[in-house]
Amino acid sequence: MGTIYRVGQRGRQATSWPATRRSPEELLGHIPKGLRRREPPRLPEVSQGELVRHYTALSRMNHGVDTGFYPLGSCTMKYNPKLHEEIARLPGFTELHPLSPLESAQGVLEALWRLGELLKRIAGMPGITLQPAAGAHGELTGMLLIKRYFEDRGESERRRVILLPDSAHGTNPASAAMAGFRVIPVPSNEGGTVDLRALEELLGEEVAGIMMTVPNTLGIFERDILSITEMVHEVGGLCYFDGANLNAFLGRARPGDMGADIFHFNLHKTFSTPHGSGGPGAGPLTVSERLIPYLPVPQIVREGDRFVLSYDLPKSIGRVHPFLGNVLVMLKALAYILTLGDEGLREVSTGAVLAANYLRVRLREAYEIPYDGLCKHEFVASTVGLGVKARDVAKRLIDYGFHPPTVYFPLIVEEALMIEPTETETVETLDAFVEAMLRIAREAVENPEALAEAPHNAPVRRLDEVRAAREPILREEFPASTD
Ligand SMILES: Cc1ncc(COP(=O)(O)O)c(C=O)c1O
Repeated sequence: MGTIYRVGQRGRQATSWPATRRSPEELLGHIPKGLRRREPPRLPEVSQGELVRHYTALSRMNHGVDTGFYPLGSCTMKYNPKLHEEIARLPGFTELHPLSPLESAQGVLEALWRLGELLKRIAGMPGITLQPAAGAHGELTGMLLIKRYFEDRGESERRRVILLPDSAHGTNPASAAMAGFRVIPVPSNEGGTVDLRALEELLGEEVAGIMMTVPNTLGIFERDILSITEMVHEVGGLCYFDGANLNAFLGRARPGDMGADIFHFNLHKTFSTPHGSGGPGAGPLTVSERLIPYLPVPQIVREGDRFVLSYDLPKSIGRVHPFLGNVLVMLKALAYILTLGDEGLREVSTGAVLAANYLRVRLREAYEIPYDGLCKHEFVASTVGLGVKARDVAKRLIDYGFHPPTVYFPLIVEEALMIEPTETETVETLDAFVEAMLRIAREAVENPEALAEAPHNAPVRRLDEVRAAREPILREEFPASTD
């Protein structure tokens, strides 16, 4: 399929303009000469029907949560209620100028303040910033908070190390390194959790903190989390929890009770905004008492029945996002939390964990599950025992109408398939996925070529994924003569 420029004929139009008696020259007269185009823009010239068909066809080439099962590990691709989109689209929110005086922005300030209070309650932590625009942005903000905390205590020269379990999400080491810390990996034990003896050996006065993904990328909850946070606190370090996987324990356990000093949410995974395609997202952070003085400003503060923006944190790390952050994502999260209530939020994690364990147990007759214990919201299978590549299984799944799981991550599992079904899928969908996976496992033995050449039925076959990501071609190349 070509771009819209490959459709249509010169002179064709998809829209009609209101009639005017003014001449083009007169109208152009309103635009300063220096700003006028020298040549007309090269726009596609298509009929309305062609336009609609082109973009509808394009949209159908994509797989989305609204079209099918999307078990992309670590992305929580669940169904998101459309009602919340409607709420975020209310003109009172979308037409509010970011520089509006506070008096005319009271509604949105109250909504965000309420969201902040709810997130603090969910995390069991006293401080919050809503500003970060994504999970990784929250991580970087958290690392900057840790840095500022130690600067304030005169320990920044010494505390240069962040400990990072090898089961952590890939953005974690990147964020710590970006904030200027030295990253030291902590190995996992046979059960896929932090090796406490190895941690003990790494702890010392140079440690600024530990950065853990909770539950980790194997979908396993750290049984020793209380010992870990205690050990790190004992040497004066801080504990960062990557909470992007909150779907696993939402409404059941609180990071604040586990010793977390910083916890980031991925609102665009857990709370009603789909994750993917680069955003928009929101990665709010909750923090423990000792980090409140360093939080980004402004803070949304309630003064009686008014809401104001407070800059009264002299030790703040400053702003990490213009204005208030990605407000519409936050509004969807607020709507989702209020719609579900406490019991509904608990049901989210119940359903997510149940679905992941159902798939894990059903798939292990054909796939190796290297860390095969009770998992949380996701688990990792391996194709090593089948003698085929994880990539081949993933591509074949497309032929059967499923989005592939995350592949080759986490790095500690060879030929990894990281599967996260989420709580919003029916058992029929999970069963259909199992059937496809078992069929692919049989094909791996009986007809491995079918896998090596898959997908067979997709709009595009195998792409050079690295080149597609690194050298994307984002504009139509026109022949030189008509350029
Ligand atoms: C566990 C975990 N941490 C961090 C991130 C990074 O979040 P973002 O993509 O919003 O930067 C993700 C993304 O899915 C994640 O799954």
